[in-house]
Order: sequence, then structure tokens, then C-alpha cells
Amino acid sequence: EIRSADRLVADLVRDVPDYPKPGVLFKDITPLLADPEAFGHTVEALGAPWRDAAPRVDKVVGIEARGFILAAPVALALGAGFVPVRKAGKLPGPTFARSYALEYGQETLEVQRDAFEPGDRVLIVDDVLATGGTVEAANTLIRDAGAEVAGISVLLELTFLAPRTRTGDLTVHSLLPV
Ligand code: PRP
Repeated sequence: EIRSADRLVADLVRDVPDYPKPGVLFKDITPLLADPEAFGHTVEALGAPWRDAAPRVDKVVGIEARGFILAAPVALALGAGFVPVRKAGKLPGPTFARSYALEYGQETLEVQRDAFEPGDRVLIVDDVLATGGTVEAANTLIRDAGAEVAGISVLLELTFLAPRTRTGDLTVHSLLPV
């Protein structure tokens, strides 16, 4: 049987109703991560739009926790550095912090103040773009730290939550708009 790579990836994202809270349909990417062909295709597809970008992408930001899993291999594939944006209290040294509302709760994200060289061009990679609040906070943190966001690559975009109202004029690539 021949399946397209995108179909393979889509089939390995599992919908979990009412998790972590009633009314939320959780997108579980663990079956995809457990399949090396699908995982590899996902990493390749997330980086592809940026491979020949001019100016080049200097750093890839991953957002704790699920974002780390995808962003780190994308950084290596692009020959870029990896920078973690973490939940509050996890990064040593001076940080910038930003609080924001999540689809199911409230969160604070941080980045180290010295994470970037001045003018670094940064790609944000995450698993899911839902309300867009997380990416909006990451975008602000990256600017606070003196870098420039080149764009965003996500595996899944929940278009019914209208996340692009929060991403302004940033270029957003989503593999699977749902
Ligand atoms: C999820 C997901 C995205 C974010 C998307 O992370 O991994 O980062 O929510 O939501 P938004 O667009 O509405 O902001 P979560 O905070 O659940 O953390 P996790 O990766 O540690 O599970």
C-alpha cells in the first residue's frame, strides 16, 4: 500500500476528547513520534519552507514541552541553533518572562536574556497552534531578547480557534490545518 507522507502523519495524530479538561479535544502526537517514517517526514516538512530562506534562519525556538521534541531536530536539519522557551522557573540566570491565557488555563513562559545574538533570525516550531497565545508570547519574548522572528512552523493548526488573529503579520506554515 502506498500512502502519501502527509496522510501517514495525519493518521498518526490521535484525537482524545475531554482531555485535559471537559470540552477540549486533545491532539495526541505520541503515535506519530513512535513511527520513525512519520516523525522523519514531519521534521523534514516543518523545516522545508525555511531551508533556502534568505536571510537564513539562525536559531530555532522550541516551546516546552511538546515543542522541544519537534524543534530540536528541525534546528539540526536547518543547520541552526536550538533555543528553549520554557515554563516559569526552569531556566537559570536572567530571563525575560511573559504570561498568557491558554485554551485550558494560564501559563508563564521564559527565555534566557542571552539566548540570541543581536539580530538573529528565529523560526518558532511547535506541535499545535490552537488559540495562538503560546506563539504570541514566544514571539514577544524573542523580540525582548533582541532577535527577529522569521516565522512559525507547526504540525497542527486548529483553524476553528482562529490562531492567526494572534500571529499578526508573521509567516505561518502548518502541515495539518484541522
Ligand atoms: C500546548 C501545545 C502548544 C500550545 C498551543 O502546550 O504544545 O504549545 O498548547 O496552544 P495555544 O495556541 O492555545 O497557546 P501545553 O501548554 O499544553 O504544554 P505541553 O507542550 O507541555 O504539553
